[in-house]
Amino acid sequence: MEKRSIDVARGRWVPETPAWWQRGVIYQIYPWSFADASGDGVGDLRGIRDHAEYLAWLGVDAVWLSPIFPSPGVDLGYDVSDYQDVDPRFGTLRDLEEMIAALHAVDVRLILDLVPNHTSDRHPWFQESWGDPTNPRHNWYVWHDAGPDGGPPNNWESYFGGPAWTFLDPPGQWYLHSFDPGQPDLNWDNPAVRDAIRAAMRFWLDRGVDGFRVDVLWLLGKDPEMRDNPPDPDWREGVPDYLRFRRAYSEDGPRAHEYAQFLRAVVDEYPDRVMIGEVVLPPDRAVAYYGTDLHEAHMPHNFALVYEPGLTEEVGWSADGIQSVVEHYESVLPNGAWPNWLLGDHDFPRVASRVGPERARVAQMLLLTLRGTPTCYYGDELGLLDAPPRTGGAVSDPQARTGEDRGRLVARTPMPWTTGPYGGFSTAEPWVPLASDDPALTVERQRADPGSLLNLFRALIRLRRERPALAVGAYRSLSAAEDVLSFERWHPEGAVHVHLNLGPSPREVNLVGGRVLLSTAGPVGDRAAGGPILTLVGYEGVVVDVGRRET
Ligand code: GLC
Repeated sequence: MEKRSIDVARGRWVPETPAWWQRGVIYQIYPWSFADASGDGVGDLRGIRDHAEYLAWLGVDAVWLSPIFPSPGVDLGYDVSDYQDVDPRFGTLRDLEEMIAALHAVDVRLILDLVPNHTSDRHPWFQESWGDPTNPRHNWYVWHDAGPDGGPPNNWESYFGGPAWTFLDPPGQWYLHSFDPGQPDLNWDNPAVRDAIRAAMRFWLDRGVDGFRVDVLWLLGKDPEMRDNPPDPDWREGVPDYLRFRRAYSEDGPRAHEYAQFLRAVVDEYPDRVMIGEVVLPPDRAVAYYGTDLHEAHMPHNFALVYEPGLTEEVGWSADGIQSVVEHYESVLPNGAWPNWLLGDHDFPRVASRVGPERARVAQMLLLTLRGTPTCYYGDELGLLDAPPRTGGAVSDPQARTGEDRGRLVARTPMPWTTGPYGGFSTAEPWVPLASDDPALTVERQRADPGSLLNLFRALIRLRRERPALAVGAYRSLSAAEDVLSFERWHPEGAVHVHLNLGPSPREVNLVGGRVLLSTAGPVGDRAAGGPILTLVGYEGVVVDVGRRET
């Protein structure tokens, strides 16, 4: 358990010797879209290596890289056909090793995306599994005889729409796929499967990888009796079909925690590694994946700022909405569990599109000042917006095939590095078009502009590093009134107050004698000179040094 210097019961504890993943900032790279060194229009590992300097300049501590393993690409890499190699579209194993070395040389760690719940249907394991029920690999996947009516064994639905079961003959049975039919679910109840995933994890940990983000961690356990999911009483016309049933039996099953512990034990065989879990459940259930003795995920991802009612795209962000989400999350965290925050990832519309471009800066200030490890999605540091949805491209998102979703590619567009052709992302036409050709949204322009979001983002990271209150300090709500969210981050060495004006009108905040360290609105100058009250302009956020204080 984490050693603490301060009384936990008062919610005022700070880790005495924080691990790198507690102090640090994580930056998610979607490999298809970060940088293309080979000139084929798809991002690659050499491209990332060539931009190690950018990551170091930005000040991030680790990269979480979405899957780079060989894959037919049905779900853009989340359909893995070999856990122990690199997909040729991204490079070679050698390129990966060189990329790791380049990142480590500038003190940036690497977190790979482990996809243990399912493989590609092209994975040799599945190929062996389906043809012959006597093959020892048959039982590596979830096969089942037909239901009483000759159809699927139960009513479970795929997250991408339609039944979660597909019939194959041979073996004359149905196989489970929580996602696309090209992504059969592995049978985690089979110890041989667990051993194989452990071997894959060791393969990467031996190569110096600093940890894993575990894809759909909460799906590893399913109901052993495979019972039908019950109808969701809240479902109504207009809500996607796949939400007609509550996923009471198809996810978050009784053995999920045992499997999370299994994965964590592998990570713990190596010093100083991290395990992050994708757990898309309401916060009170997601935090169960810290484990009762904190021996599951170091950090189950916290999607509260993306998902919680009150903060959705339709409702928008309000100061009291955010405050109650933060307080609720803080209140359900198990003792000693380290919090984390994200504003989105490759599965969601971009934050600047969700909350409005005018709030892009204040949103990053929120992310980088809350208590817990922030995970930033590449491009959000520039304020990138979603691309317009399009159909008919060479690559498509399986989630969009349900027709209920405009697809996730809108938030996976190439990183705009320069004002040159294709944003300097590639010399060839990119696999999907850039979201925008606005030169103001490029790294080149924003790096040169001290007032840019990019430079604000970087300054926030630096401030986090310099101020223990921001990196590891305790959280306390101050107020949420008239669009302004105010909270304190407290540390024995000194506290800071954060005031975020989420609305368009000027608002006054009390500086309590403190000094403005950073503003989203530009140079701080003598902002505090006017006295104890500071007037924030619309959508302005500030971080204020309030010195050492008891409460
Ligand atoms: C996770 C990934 C998502 C993928 C799904 C299936 O939710 O984040 O992109 O489609 O798992 O692997």
